[in-house]
Amino acid sequence: MKIEFLLNGEAVTVDGNSPTRTLLDYLREECGLTGTKEGCNEGDCGACSIMITDDDGTKALNACILFLPQLHGKSVRTVEGLAAPDGTLHPVQSEMIENHGSQCGFCTPGFIMSMAAAHQNSETNHDDVLAGNLCRCTGYVPIIRAARAAEKFAKPKHLQINKLPVTKTIQSERVFVPKTSDELADWYIKNPDATLIGGATDVGLWINKDLCDLSSIAFIGQIDELRGIEISDSGMAIGASVTLSQLHKAVAKKYASLGELVRRYGSTQVRNAATIGGNIANGSPIGDGPPALIALGAQLYLRRGDDFRNMALEDYFIDYGKQDRKIGEFIIGIAIPEQPNNLKCYKITKRFDQDISTLCGCFNITRHSGKITSARIAFGGMAETPKRATSVEIALIGKPWTQDTITAAVTKFSTDYQPISDVRASAAYRAQTAQNLLQRYFDETFGHATNVLEVTP
Ligand SMILES: Cc1cc2nc3c(=O)[nH]c(=O)nc-3n(C[C@H](O)[C@H](O)[C@H](O)COP(=O)(O)OP(=O)(O)OC[C@H]3O[C@@H](n4cnc5c(N)ncnc54)[C@H](O)[C@@H]3O)c2cc1C
Ligand code: FES
Ligand code: FES
Repeated sequence: MKIEFLLNGEAVTVDGNSPTRTLLDYLREECGLTGTKEGCNEGDCGACSIMITDDDGTKALNACILFLPQLHGKSVRTVEGLAAPDGTLHPVQSEMIENHGSQCGFCTPGFIMSMAAAHQNSETNHDDVLAGNLCRCTGYVPIIRAARAAEKFAKPKHLQINKLPVTKTIQSERVFVPKTSDELADWYIKNPDATLIGGATDVGLWINKDLCDLSSIAFIGQIDELRGIEISDSGMAIGASVTLSQLHKAVAKKYASLGELVRRYGSTQVRNAATIGGNIANGSPIGDGPPALIALGAQLYLRRGDDFRNMALEDYFIDYGKQDRKIGEFIIGIAIPEQPNNLKCYKITKRFDQDISTLCGCFNITRHSGKITSARIAFGGMAETPKRATSVEIALIGKPWTQDTITAAVTKFSTDYQPISDVRASAAYRAQTAQNLLQRYFDETFGHATNVLEVTP
């Protein structure tokens, strides 16, 4: 299994490595590039941030949950390769020095790489860019100051990528990096025990934290057919390997609240890797994508060999850890029907940014002449699976849009959900919050905005 990529501008071929060797380990152990740090080894701290350029552009990713085959045909840049060949520092490096953005320095290379990727993309929302980079000593003000100060400088010429390595399909006994869904469908039928890897933001943790051994693997991130987003009069069709960052770009204009939900999903580095297919396939009861997509009435599309089928997304989630997916079957995408935007998504977390949901409530309620004509409500974090609140929906449909209707409907949440207590919240907190969120949706339709970031007297 030969993997080809550019590393700090030089072509490298990696051979004979385990397919689940992370880029972080490879850089530190094999290349001596120890500027890329290991903090959490699970995608949370950003100390291992590096920059990747491929056909989709330049982005920051966490090297600790990035496997070597995912790099095939791409360009990797680490902090060691950021300054110009003549030693001139990148503007974000010189501004970090100028603005005293570093103390112990452990987090600094990760910050620098996130800031450099943002600089390449002319991205100036620095709070967002840096939400996935944790610093324990400097404090964020000097770092943000440095990022702002670097905005005015041109993009360094040496970071332009003119040529990426030739990307042949990788196929070995254990590893397959297909280019088409036909290739994947055929291979997966013959290798039904294989693990599919999209962005590896879940699977990376199985390897790093649970020390799993995977028998065979297909890395599906290079299949163009699974990476498309089509917008037509009938709605949006989104491929399974579309990343959360790409999803954000596609949905934020039409469904602003879904855009905001996706913006708070993990961090920039996580969103640049995580795919919507992986977010659905993993069947997590606290994933953020499924409740929003269920509320929008999304259909899920699956393929097994030459057989294709589709279903309402909510039907995919059968029970905790059990989904309606046959052996050798994979997700090809989802479709969101065209509709007026009545969607509101509420992600409730302990920390506002970069935190997994305690619960996530998504409401899509249509009204006509003061009456509720349709209601689709779905929650994550309230049951063993992402689940619709069908009793609440029934209590709403056909009723006037009044406080009395809401007061009666919220009592039905206890029919739909019997939440559990866990480290994130008690059952009572979850039950009460679900009720409050319907009230919040109602209040917001009268212009009463809720700001959870500021406490006002
Ligand atoms: C630091 C961090 C923060 C996170 N924050 C959030 C968050 O805020 N909200 C949230 O919902 N999640 C969050 N996650 C979880 C994770 O990012 C998501 O579940 C992600 O969308 C998974 O996608 P992936 O492509 O990385 O999946 P992978 O890790 O590649 O795969 C996950 C599972 O899906 C399967 N799979 C992938 N693609 C397909 C396919 N096309 N067909 C069939 N099976 C497939 C894989 O075999 C595997 O079982 C976070 C994770 C990390 C590490
Ligand atoms: S080491 Fe913490 S995100 Fe990679
Ligand atoms: S400078 Fe020490 S952790 Fe950021």
